[in-house]
Amino acid sequence: AKGISDKLIGIFFEDINYGADGGLYAELVQNRDFEYNQADRKNWTHSYAWTVSDGSDGVLEIDTVMPLHANNRHYAVLRGNAVKNNGYDGIPVKKGAKYRFSLYGRAPEGNVQLEVSLVGGNGLVVASEKIKVSSKNWKKVTATLMPSADADSAELFITPAAGRTLHVDMVSLFPHATFKGRENGLRADLAEILAGLKPKFVRFPGGCVAHGNGVDNIYDWKGSIGELYERKPLSNLWGYHQTRGLGYHEYFLFCEDLGAEPLPVLAAGVPCQNSSVPSAHSHNLVTTNGQQCGVPMEQMPQYIQDVLDLIEYANGDARTSRWGRVRAKAGHPEPFNMKYIGIGNEDLISPAFVERFTMICNAVSEKYPDIKIVGTSGPFYEGSDYTYGWQLADSMHIPLVDEHYYVAPGWMVNNQDFYDNYDRDKPHVYLGEYAAHLPGRQSNVETALTEALYLLSVERNADVVEMTSYAPLLAKEGHTQWRPDLIYFNNTKVKPTVDYYVQKLFGNNSGEVYIASKLSAGNLPATAMKRQGASVVFNKETDTYIVKIANLLPVATSLALDLGNIPVNLSEAEVTVLSGNPSDTGVSPQTKVVSIADGNVELLPYSFTVIRLKKLY
Ligand code: AHR
Repeated sequence: AKGISDKLIGIFFEDINYGADGGLYAELVQNRDFEYNQADRKNWTHSYAWTVSDGSDGVLEIDTVMPLHANNRHYAVLRGNAVKNNGYDGIPVKKGAKYRFSLYGRAPEGNVQLEVSLVGGNGLVVASEKIKVSSKNWKKVTATLMPSADADSAELFITPAAGRTLHVDMVSLFPHATFKGRENGLRADLAEILAGLKPKFVRFPGGCVAHGNGVDNIYDWKGSIGELYERKPLSNLWGYHQTRGLGYHEYFLFCEDLGAEPLPVLAAGVPCQNSSVPSAHSHNLVTTNGQQCGVPMEQMPQYIQDVLDLIEYANGDARTSRWGRVRAKAGHPEPFNMKYIGIGNEDLISPAFVERFTMICNAVSEKYPDIKIVGTSGPFYEGSDYTYGWQLADSMHIPLVDEHYYVAPGWMVNNQDFYDNYDRDKPHVYLGEYAAHLPGRQSNVETALTEALYLLSVERNADVVEMTSYAPLLAKEGHTQWRPDLIYFNNTKVKPTVDYYVQKLFGNNSGEVYIASKLSAGNLPATAMKRQGASVVFNKETDTYIVKIANLLPVATSLALDLGNIPVNLSEAEVTVLSGNPSDTGVSPQTKVVSIADGNVELLPYSFTVIRLKKLY
């Protein structure tokens, strides 16, 4: 037996595929701040998702003369005309549920009465409230809407009384029923399905979103906190807009609600190696854009300070530290107790990277020696970024290195020994992005079982592989830039893949002790043996031995389980099986409690079986 990581299964959360805005972030109004623009997407304007609804088909008037905040300069001017917002592919509302409506308004010519209503697909008004904007300065006004009928695709109408000018900004509609009931919170069904994974950590904000498309697009954490109207919207390198309403504070809260460790990943002072935005800072380097430029050296002290400030925001004392006070003001005086920080995301290990990565890591270790830094080793399991990323991390004694690889299922079948010979005295591994990719990029029983088989080998090596996260996590139908993903969804439905259930089975059946086991199968040839794998762990909290077995053979196998002298209750074994034909997409695991007193377990063809056995005293 050997001790293994108790943080093996986590989640990778990135705003890709409308994962945050239009997805996990429960805001129902799209372009609430009128800050959409061409940098987000070529044909997007400040009035995107909004329509003047007085029958004139007029264009919404946008102004910047008296902004609500310098970071949020655009607002709408209504001159007696009604406007409507169609949300993210429509606004889904439920009969009898409460929705929190709010806007910031100013009435330069005096009081304006307005009606706020939700109108269903068939023109039926399902909710309506009257509010008044009476201040000449920006002021928040609110109302509660309670629909009288369900509507999967409603529109939100704002209808001011005729003849008066009204300025509006930050128009928002949130369900009361967010995850854990938090205001400005997360879509409950999506957050619940993530909680079902029992993730031990959450990586945020990416992925490529963390280091951005060019230096000016690096995810600056400070622009993602504070009052919603003062956050800095950011164009998303996946081709849309980030309100950053789900910013760093909400992320820390989500981790707390999940009981998961935060693992923020910050750019190593260089943007994505595939950046396509020309930068003003590329004068002395190889390319005219992309990572080669890096944050200019004269700005690095501030960049490093920002990294240190994030740690202070998460962990600093609410009374004595500046950023701890800011956190307390946001409603969380207790520290978030962050333990990890990632620096860099699958970067090109260029001179620009090495210089900046070294500066940042040295500053973090000096000020916060207890924070575990996670380095980076490129986008593949081999090659120069992998080699030099590892060498650099090793030479700097970085505790963990983030590896990424999206591979064919066959790679996983044939590389189950990948970590067997990793040096346990060198940095440990965070397998931060991985998935089995088939031609056509679908998720099915084949990809899921291959990942299960590979994860068994990772669990065997979980004394050196401390963390893993499948990527990407979420994808909204109709807005998917990357496939495959773990969970698909639309406005009303959540559709976990078979791969999700593999993650769930590992997340819910983790252990802290790995028990060596041997799987033998008569005289099966080695190529067939590779398609079976097993692992045994002990989970201290539940006092349970957990046996996991993947059978990727097209035939059922009869397993004779020999537990030696391990004392377990075989007469009440909890057996969970995930199986199907390789191309099946709609299967989910089935659990039953059975006696396996004779030690015999039937393994279905193409299956992943988890057996939980209570320890006997
Ligand atoms: O997971 C999707 C993308 O894959 C990530 O943003 C990036 O890090 C990787 O290339």
